[in-house]
Amino acid sequence: MPKTVLVVYAHPEPASLTRQFVRETIQIFGKQGHIVLQSDLYNMEWKAIFDESDFPCRINTDRLDFIQESGNTYATDQQSPDIATEQRKLLAADLVIFHFPLWWYGMPAILKGWIDRVYAHGFAYGYKGEGNRYRYGDGIFKGKRALLSVMVGGPEEDYAPRGINGPLDELLFPITHGTLFFPGFDVLTTHAVYGTGKIEISAAEEEFAVWRARLEHIFDEMPIPFRRQNSGDYQGGILADHICSGKSGLSIHIDNDSSM
Ligand SMILES: Cc1cc2nc3c(=O)[nH]c(=O)nc-3n(C[C@H](O)[C@H](O)[C@H](O)COP(=O)(O)O)c2cc1C
Repeated sequence: MPKTVLVVYAHPEPASLTRQFVRETIQIFGKQGHIVLQSDLYNMEWKAIFDESDFPCRINTDRLDFIQESGNTYATDQQSPDIATEQRKLLAADLVIFHFPLWWYGMPAILKGWIDRVYAHGFAYGYKGEGNRYRYGDGIFKGKRALLSVMVGGPEEDYAPRGINGPLDELLFPITHGTLFFPGFDVLTTHAVYGTGKIEISAAEEEFAVWRARLEHIFDEMPIPFRRQNSGDYQGGILADHICSGKSGLSIHIDNDSSM
């Protein structure tokens, strides 16, 4: 059964490592007979700045309230066509892959701007007009998978558990947990390639092979076992006292004992 894969990428240079990975992705899913949708953000000249021009008919012209105006623009079908098109692609996708270089420990601004604008209120948050009822495991993207493919300039040891930069999974937690799991995606483990600034062609070929092998079975992978808000683990927005007692930090929101 063919699946639909959306590939969102943020790099203007066709010869970059990021874009070479994108080509591998498109090729492999094409070969497997899946439908591949693309969002080539630089080529699309994606408008990265979320501002008042995104709200043609304001509810309140005295003070710009992004959440209120976003919700109204989405609900009344007045969104700009670039935003509506990306939302349709997301709704069509079974799997969304984000390809980007690590820039200042996060995603390039053009991709952040894609999230800011495409994730409208009523769509990716405030789903069904129910505030925070549907989030962290529930939401519009429930049943879909997503993953990050990240090119990292620094060496792997700098991102090790005691590495000077901090572990990559923790640095990217606001994206995997906050941006993908929040609206309901099952999030797969981030695919990182380190030392990209100095990578030799032969090493790059090895990395492409590893990526291709991973994509072969991507629909069978177990997602990261983030705790679901509506699973009973939380009381309101707080993790129940008996779970990870005495601990805090990001890792308590991952259920490493689950059999997911
Ligand atoms: C604006 C900018 C910010 C960067 N920030 C980081 C960073 O935070 N950590 C890191 O390891 N490398 C960083 N780098 C290096 C990139 O990750 C590296 O150039 C990239 O992975 C190379 O892949 P590419 O060929 O797809 O561009 C940065 C590079 C640029 C241009």
